Amino acid sequence: MKAVVYEKPFNVVVKDVDDPRIQHPNDVIVRVTSTAICGSDLHMYEGRTAAKPGIVFGHENLGIVEEVGSGVTSLSEGDRVVMPFNVACGFCKNCLAGKTGFCLTVNPGFAGGAYGYVAMGPYTGGQAERLRVPYADFNCLKLPPGDEFENDFVLLADIFPTGYHGCELAQVKPGESVAVFGAGPVGLMAAYSALLRGASKVFSVDRVPERLAKAEEIGAIPIDFTQGDPAEQIKEQTNGEGTDKGVDAVGYQATSHKDTSHEEPAVVLNALVDTVRPTGMLGVPGLYVPSDPGGPDEHAKHGQLLVSIGKMFEKGQQMGTGQCNVKQYNRQLRDLIIAGRAKPSFVVSHTLPLEQAPQAYEKFDKRIEGYTKVVLRPGHALAA
Ligand SMILES: NC(=O)c1ccc[n+]([C@@H]2O[C@H](COP(=O)([O-])OP(=O)(O)OC[C@H]3O[C@@H](n4cnc5c(N)ncnc54)[C@H](O)[C@@H]3O)[C@@H](O)[C@H]2O)c1
Ligand SMILES: [Zn+2]
Ligand SMILES: [Zn+2]
Repeated sequence: MKAVVYEKPFNVVVKDVDDPRIQHPNDVIVRVTSTAICGSDLHMYEGRTAAKPGIVFGHENLGIVEEVGSGVTSLSEGDRVVMPFNVACGFCKNCLAGKTGFCLTVNPGFAGGAYGYVAMGPYTGGQAERLRVPYADFNCLKLPPGDEFENDFVLLADIFPTGYHGCELAQVKPGESVAVFGAGPVGLMAAYSALLRGASKVFSVDRVPERLAKAEEIGAIPIDFTQGDPAEQIKEQTNGEGTDKGVDAVGYQATSHKDTSHEEPAVVLNALVDTVRPTGMLGVPGLYVPSDPGGPDEHAKHGQLLVSIGKMFEKGQQMGTGQCNVKQYNRQLRDLIIAGRAKPSFVVSHTLPLEQAPQAYEKFDKRIEGYTKVVLRPGHALAA
């Protein structure tokens, strides 16, 4: 089958790889109809992780069940399903507590597994024609048949739940003000989720004009960080107080606010400490890694950053971090989509055949030509 394979930094190719097969009675094989490219893939694409050549990317996958293992009870051939990017067992103590992003079974020696991601276990990615889904009864979320809401449902694999998770980590409540740093797909989903949760005022900080325009379109207040210190801009619009809550949807590859040609890995964390009012809460779904070969200094290369912990303590702020436990939210968010109460696909800028992955990666990586979120359609199943 055809798949998107990482060859070296800034280079992916679409080529033939082995078809996946059932390896365990609770596996299914899914024919992928939609698979999205994620900002998290870009960390690997840019050579900023320990990802080795040959890895098949793709953790945001939707498709049709094609083959069912003998131990699967809840799924049949032909079912339309979307899979959380987390691979999880459903029975370890973290899964039982709902923390499926930290499953203890699927990636021994580590808490958490995912498809097509460095250090996340042996699960081949879904930017391909087919995908093997382990613990399928637990990991597949059933969708209504047909192809309605395809670009909404594919976002249930990661970014819609992840944006929502950012708000959950910050415990965003009705009436509150929220600053979301990053208006990439995750940041836009966090801003959208904050509004869904009843926030009164949501600020969306970035510098990419098309992304800030999308933020404004959904009712957030765009803040261009190249136009002055974003914390100050936000304080000016909150009576000098700052926001109740904050979300970091950027992560360690953050651009310096002073010199946009440089990365400053802790700039967003520190801007949030500054922006959020005393006793406020910070949700950090933006990715931080323990090993970054391209880190700007020796500490950053080991994931150690200069964070204003003194100021954070003085302000009595709380912070939540980590991978999204997609399964905690995906069913409820699916039902909001079906009910017409949420339409996350506003974030999708491009729907392309799988073969165009190399160009799509290049443009998404440069954040040019309005490339905000790309959905790939293997086999042109539903190519629009
Ligand atoms: N926790 C999880 O489960 C999870 C899941 C998916 C993605 N992520 C992470 O979320 C982050 C965002 O993902 P994405 O797909 O939206 O990526 P993206 O790279 O498309 O978006 C990041 C955005 O941040 C902006 N940005 C850069 N520096 C900034 C700064 N200093 N202040 C404000 N904005 C700044 C960029 O211009 C860009 O638009 C990534 O780190 C990704 O790895 C985490
Ligand atoms: Zn993702
Ligand atoms: Zn588990």
